[in-house]
Amino acid sequence: MRLLLATNNRGKMAEIKAILSDLDLEILTPADLQLELEVPEVGNTYAENAALKGAAFCRASGLPTLGDDSGLEVEALDGAPGLYSNRFVPIPHATDADRRKYLIERLLAHPRPWKARFCCTVALVRPADNGQVRVSYHEGFCYGEIIPEERGEGGFGYDPIFYIPEEGRTMAELGMEVKNRISHRGRAVQAAKPALVEILQGRA
Ligand code: IMP
Repeated sequence: MRLLLATNNRGKMAEIKAILSDLDLEILTPADLQLELEVPEVGNTYAENAALKGAAFCRASGLPTLGDDSGLEVEALDGAPGLYSNRFVPIPHATDADRRKYLIERLLAHPRPWKARFCCTVALVRPADNGQVRVSYHEGFCYGEIIPEERGEGGFGYDPIFYIPEEGRTMAELGMEVKNRISHRGRAVQAAKPALVEILQGRA
């Protein structure tokens, strides 16, 4: 059974592949199928964006597809950057380092701790009849705080400034195995596994 991941983010791809490595699935990325789709993230929720991405890639490929959307919500910024975590910095071609710097600059006026959480929703989208799709949603969260200095080389995005008190380390210091056990994406993709097993067993 083949499953397409509706993302071009290498960090996410590697994490999701590792989380699903115990299932008898061939996991494909858009590049494996020469699929070049830009899906505008115009939804009002992570779930809507995950479904938009998943459905677009599912229709284009005819394969069961896992769409995902994620973001970082900071309490002192009323939940920003949230849905806009990737488009937070108002300059074109911003890098992860630009995003981290911009976030810390916004937070300096606020007292610490800068409590935050990562959120992720995945949408498992299956081809159905007449070009329709069927979608199931699964979500996960990870709680911590933003710190002003970068720590660690692993992960991607905001990981070097996302500190998890219970671990005593930032997300970038955890290594992928531990990150996948406790992260928002790890929890969301784990929650999708029963639905994936149903597909594998031909029951869905
Ligand atoms: P999207 O899910 O493609 O919309 O991207 C969300 C953005 O949130 C990413 O580009 C990162 O900046 C951030 N983000 C999401 N998940 C993570 C994570 O696991 N670590 C660090 N940053 C993340």
